[in-house]
Amino acid sequence: MTHPTRTQVVIVGAGPAGLFLAHLLHRQGIESVILDIRTREEIEQTIRAGVLEQWTADLMRDLGLGERLDREAHVHSGISLQYGRERCHLDLEELTGGKRVTVYPQHEVLRDLIAGHVEQGGQIHFGVQDVDLSRATDDRPQVTFRRRAGSPPETLEGNFVVGCDGSQGHSRQYIEGRIEYHKLYPFGWLGILVEAPPSYHELVYARHERGFALLSTRSDTVQRMYIQCEPTEDIAAYPDERIWQELQTRLAMDGWQLTEGRIFQKGVVGLRSFVTDRMQRGPLFIAGDAAHIVPPTGAKGLNLAVADAVYLFRGLEQHYAGGGRARLDAYTDTCLRRVWRAERFSWYMTTLLHVNPEENAFEQRIHMADLEYVTSSRAAATALAENYVGLPLDG
Ligand code: PHB
Repeated sequence: MTHPTRTQVVIVGAGPAGLFLAHLLHRQGIESVILDIRTREEIEQTIRAGVLEQWTADLMRDLGLGERLDREAHVHSGISLQYGRERCHLDLEELTGGKRVTVYPQHEVLRDLIAGHVEQGGQIHFGVQDVDLSRATDDRPQVTFRRRAGSPPETLEGNFVVGCDGSQGHSRQYIEGRIEYHKLYPFGWLGILVEAPPSYHELVYARHERGFALLSTRSDTVQRMYIQCEPTEDIAAYPDERIWQELQTRLAMDGWQLTEGRIFQKGVVGLRSFVTDRMQRGPLFIAGDAAHIVPPTGAKGLNLAVADAVYLFRGLEQHYAGGGRARLDAYTDTCLRRVWRAERFSWYMTTLLHVNPEENAFEQRIHMADLEYVTSSRAAATALAENYVGLPLDG
């Protein structure tokens, strides 16, 4: 084993939480090293959702990472909710005093963050192996890893270790004494990428008796669409014709046509909600999907991860400026206030818009009444809109 390499903050995971944190720290002159078991190509090519709340897009610009975003992303000032062949426009901008959302896929965000960090001399080790966090809660926290299979183990020593290693990562298990809250939904999403022009000028979230459907976009030539399916659906059960049939049926509206095209990517994800009630132990902190998962219906996942990064940054900044540990000590509580609100909203949008085979006819009718309420009452529409564009960051 070689001598430990020293840095200030060791970040495990080059996803949204880890990369935003590294950028914020770097701007303040605080050094970090990022480790990720995935290669740069894997990270930059993994298809995820992609709606940025107003403040998340503003933060990218503020960090000097907004150039491609401003050139290529689609800014949306509203969304549509559809049920019973009626499509109802929700004017987010008007209902929230001027806030909008930006449709910019997560892997594009990550490409910009990685390129920017590398350009600024930031250190990211991709494709590492055997990342060991068992000493991440020591007084002098350390993380060991191998650059690649067979290479000798190396040690990184920092003042802090931050686990941004996603829902499948190991970092969470070192937060002892935590309580976890889980909810599994009895359905999943089948998502496709399609070569076609946009069919509609804004996102359409549809509740249909055959199940949920979502019409989203990626660019002028690529569209993203989803349909509700079984949580562990075999993709082979959905040849292209069946997917189009379901989308055409669930999104059908008089006087409007869904444009089909070549499907070049398909995948199924199960929907779940998850929160851990502790996000720190001594010098170890966790952020993003490592600490909480939301179902994608509220478009909150990426934004919640970035909010964690901002709160943790504020704590680290205070610490390194000699201001003590108060903000670091409050990290979990500060994050969880926002997390639980986003969990509530994501759960609400999910139950509102999906057909749940475990619910009875009474409950189904309640969801229809709810949809009629949010599409006819300004107060109800405002509540949905202010959550969709993102609640303000505390402090
Ligand atoms: C997407 O475009 O992938 C997307 C958009 C909105 C959502 C979820 C996913 O709520």
